[in-house]
Amino acid sequence: MLRADEPALILAPMEGVTDAPMRAVQGRCGAFTFAVSEFLRVSQQVPPAHVFLHHVPELAHGARTPTGLPVAVQLLGGDAGRMADAAGRACELGAPAIDINFGCPAPTVNRHDGGATLLRYPHRIREIVRAVRSAVPPAVPVSAKLRLGWDCISAIDENARMAAEGGAAWITIHGRTRVAGYAPPVFWKPIGRVRESLGIPVVANGDIWTLADFRRCRDESGCRHFMLGRGALGDPLLARGVARELGLPVAGSDAPTDWPAQLRGLVEWSERYHLSRGDKHVGRLKQWLRLAATAGTFARFDAIKRAPTLDALFAALDA
Ligand SMILES: Cc1cc2nc3c(=O)[nH]c(=O)nc-3n(C[C@H](O)[C@H](O)[C@H](O)COP(=O)(O)O)c2cc1C
Repeated sequence: MLRADEPALILAPMEGVTDAPMRAVQGRCGAFTFAVSEFLRVSQQVPPAHVFLHHVPELAHGARTPTGLPVAVQLLGGDAGRMADAAGRACELGAPAIDINFGCPAPTVNRHDGGATLLRYPHRIREIVRAVRSAVPPAVPVSAKLRLGWDCISAIDENARMAAEGGAAWITIHGRTRVAGYAPPVFWKPIGRVRESLGIPVVANGDIWTLADFRRCRDESGCRHFMLGRGALGDPLLARGVARELGLPVAGSDAPTDWPAQLRGLVEWSERYHLSRGDKHVGRLKQWLRLAATAGTFARFDAIKRAPTLDALFAALDA
């Protein structure tokens, strides 16, 4: 899925944002190598099959989006045994790769021993990755997604080493600590230090909003593997530009972003996946357009931000 000798561009997991309908839309741009699902929490029980299929409906379709983008399943939890069982179940259902979340900063998740909390216990990172690794077939890669640390950037060196010792095939690093949340700055240089020392591929992530950001991240980290989240949603052409610079094949030419068509795509896929209906889409669409406004690709956020219904939103967009 990700090879050390080939570049890759990955669509980031973003809970409540890059769900299956959004993955379907993002897959159409033809620039991503694969996507990672939003985290599925493994707490007191191993989720049953129907929960996996609801969370990652692509599992029922060869673990690919409608345009063929493979989807890795991300798990979050602090109990190594249950995480291993959950990973085994995900593989039985067809997961092509398992990613383990060691970065989620949400207080409720962290209070329940999941996500970034584990960055304070490096040996537990190794234990969880090792348990998951040994529970899934050899052909299924296991990866880990980390922040730089809980409150200290240099924690990444030991945490990344622990993930590698546990058997991670690659790690993804969001260049911030848990305490920093999403506040600037993002630190790409430590990602490069880890890449040099680790011997497995390291995926650089965080605050790539423009091609100029990508080039700086590439130069500072020395990475050939990247993950894009908010920037890819904010500018639908960004992933294509980055993929081209990485030397990945990108079909077709770049048409200017047709925002109504993008949004209609999300509505259509949400309904096909039975995830949302009617005016329930409005919040999601505004959330997306807010990212586009932040990225500078949508200038009329003020004109749509109070639209109360789907019809009103599209009427304001078409006006
Ligand atoms: C709303 C939101 C939800 C997220 N959910 C997840 C998640 O489920 N799993 C995960 O590993 N990271 C999650 N992240 C972190 C992203 O995957 C990514 O690391 C972060 O947004 C930085 O990358 P970006 O600047 O390209 O967006 C989330 C981020 C946001 C903004």
